[in-house]
Amino acid sequence: MKKIITSALITITLIASPITLAKEIVIKFSHVTTEKSPKGKGAILLKKIVEERLKGKVRVEIYPNSQLYNDKAVLKALLLNDVQLAAPTLSKFNKYTKKWGLFDLPFLFKNTGALNCFTSSKKGQSLLNSAENKGIIGLGYWLNGMKQISANRPLITPDDAKGLKFRIMSSDILKAQFESVDANPQKMAFSEVYNALATGVIDGQENTWSNIRSKKFFEVQKDTTVSNHGVLEYVLVTSKRFWNSLPDDIAIELEKIIKEVTAKVVEYALDAAQTDMDAVIKSGKTNVHTLTDSQRQKWANVMKPVWAKFAGEIGKDNIEAVQHCNAIN
Ligand code: LMR
Repeated sequence: MKKIITSALITITLIASPITLAKEIVIKFSHVTTEKSPKGKGAILLKKIVEERLKGKVRVEIYPNSQLYNDKAVLKALLLNDVQLAAPTLSKFNKYTKKWGLFDLPFLFKNTGALNCFTSSKKGQSLLNSAENKGIIGLGYWLNGMKQISANRPLITPDDAKGLKFRIMSSDILKAQFESVDANPQKMAFSEVYNALATGVIDGQENTWSNIRSKKFFEVQKDTTVSNHGVLEYVLVTSKRFWNSLPDDIAIELEKIIKEVTAKVVEYALDAAQTDMDAVIKSGKTNVHTLTDSQRQKWANVMKPVWAKFAGEIGKDNIEAVQHCNAIN
């Protein structure tokens, strides 16, 4: 009898094993921008390469345009393993780490060259681990670009922003940035910005050319200023829980693929910064103003005290590392 049970168990194990091994890992990747944005294209490329190289082992499902979650909800979903990948702007991690506030300091990064220099440096790469004690792993930085500012009036001097309601991402540093010009910052999800601008719930916003164009903000803002006053950078994140559950060979291959895709996103973003700006100007739907160096300097002078307020939690060493990148870019 014992013999029969044992052999039956072996048979069941042999039948069950291949099924268990063949089970495809599904990665749900939720994000808030369009499929044509640098992040949207990065997600599509990631899916393509993963499904070629890890065919039958890993499948990627992409949910763009806040279809599944906005950025606040996606981080909770990530920790619950309801999604496995997301790429929110670094400004949205206030609750998980203060260090990534570095990317919100106004007029810190001279240009996208300095930004890429920092993110690829040893210091930048080690900063990716900042939210690990909260269960979030940073897999790589994905570029979007420099932020511009818009409203229904020309924003040429800091005084022009006084009293206006600006939509901001969920960052206390961005709040302080707008308070420094006596404006009224309002934290709001990306998916709500267009309607809030169109209906006058808010007067203005800050974002990159790619987001201004793809979400049509320029159609509901009379004036847009080329200010390049800050950066919008993403971090591709997963949860410790999911990542640690992956077989080693798959995690290693995914890491390699992410590196390749990350480099490609830089290309997409640099291209979008130019073509989307050109398209917005060409549309004639918003008047585009370019600040002179001295006009820009005035904004920088008024906003710069924000640095001192947050330098302690961000780390002076990180700010200095960016300044080093500014000097060589
Ligand atoms: C925003 O909320 O403005 C951005 O974070 C959207 C994005 O993902 O580019």
